[in-house]
Amino acid sequence: MNKPLLDTLQGKQVTKRPTWLMRQAGRYLPEYREVRAQAGGFLNLCYTPDLACEVTLQPLRRYDLDAAILFADILLIPQAMGCPLAFKENEGPVLGKIRSSDDVRALSSDIGKLNETLSPVYDAVSLISKGLSADKTLIGFCGAPWTVATYMIEGGTSAERANSRLAAFAGEAWIDDLIEKLVESSVEYLGCQIEAGAEVVQIFDTWAGDLSGALLEKYCFSPIGRMRSELKRRWPDVPVIGFARGVGVSQTDFVEATGVDAAGIEWPVNTSWARDNLVPKCVVQGNLDPLAVIAGGDGMRTAVERILTDLPIGRHIFNLGHGIRKETPPEHVSDLIDMIRAHDAGGS
Ligand code: CP3
Repeated sequence: MNKPLLDTLQGKQVTKRPTWLMRQAGRYLPEYREVRAQAGGFLNLCYTPDLACEVTLQPLRRYDLDAAILFADILLIPQAMGCPLAFKENEGPVLGKIRSSDDVRALSSDIGKLNETLSPVYDAVSLISKGLSADKTLIGFCGAPWTVATYMIEGGTSAERANSRLAAFAGEAWIDDLIEKLVESSVEYLGCQIEAGAEVVQIFDTWAGDLSGALLEKYCFSPIGRMRSELKRRWPDVPVIGFARGVGVSQTDFVEATGVDAAGIEWPVNTSWARDNLVPKCVVQGNLDPLAVIAGGDGMRTAVERILTDLPIGRHIFNLGHGIRKETPPEHVSDLIDMIRAHDAGGS
């Protein structure tokens, strides 16, 4: 059986444009909200394998998607390292603040303990892998060290990540130690997901756009490149997708420096630029503005057509430029998938 997503990433001939949506399992789906309420909160959902499996598969029951992405979160790693984490209603994540050498030293680097805490996530991967039809690909993921570090340094979501950027510019030794610990834990986390059945992994660097010049190289390219090398040494056939959100024209340097198999691009990246500059180097994933799916109709159609015309089947994975929003009408997602399939079948 062909798997459009895995085959595209492995450079095989494909006839279908693989399509999935970042955050495709989530609050825009009533069936997700129901299971989340039953679980009694987001973290319980992440740590209960049969419920995590159920919400992972929900969007594939509704839509013609080519991949399932494990239901978990990038912030489970800091939690497993001993950094307190809570998700407050309508507030997002709240973490213990890490801002000194002592704070970093207090984080656990015990890999056995890390894997024990995260074992329900690996169990969820096995369950999903068994429940998935043969043409679908299972994606595992983690956050990139910089992005995860920003949540730990700021203590949660923050508008500017100012403490993190200041520590980086000041050359604080503790931030380098923190990034190093995150590289090690994250490679372990992805490796265990692969062993449990993940066929592709994505590294989310949501806040890579905070960085520029030497700091972009030091805190985004270098850690992700080291993670990719270590994963390829152990699992040479498992493709790695890098999502360095917000780096713009530095996407080409990102791909060259890290050697990722695919680059996720945010919506402001011009798709004809991506065709000319990225497609010769790697597969490109993206990049519809999530707000286009809220709007739906002709506005969404125009934006989708542009992406499909610019980026060729075989070198493109259709996705959004960032996660789907909770305000998205579920029927607009059906319309979106119909538009993609009709275009590629030669319709309009
Ligand atoms: O894509 C998927 O469907 C798989 C699951 C997934 C989640 N988070 C579930 C989630 C993935 C891949 C993530 C990644 C993630 N988590 C990122 C990187 C991608 C991105 O969006 O930039 C980041 C930065 C996080 C951290 C995070 N998790 C924040 C800031 C929040 C709060 C904001 C929000 O949307 O509520 C979360 C919570 C979260 N992670 C939810 C889901 C479905 C919502 C939780 C709920 O049900 O209330």
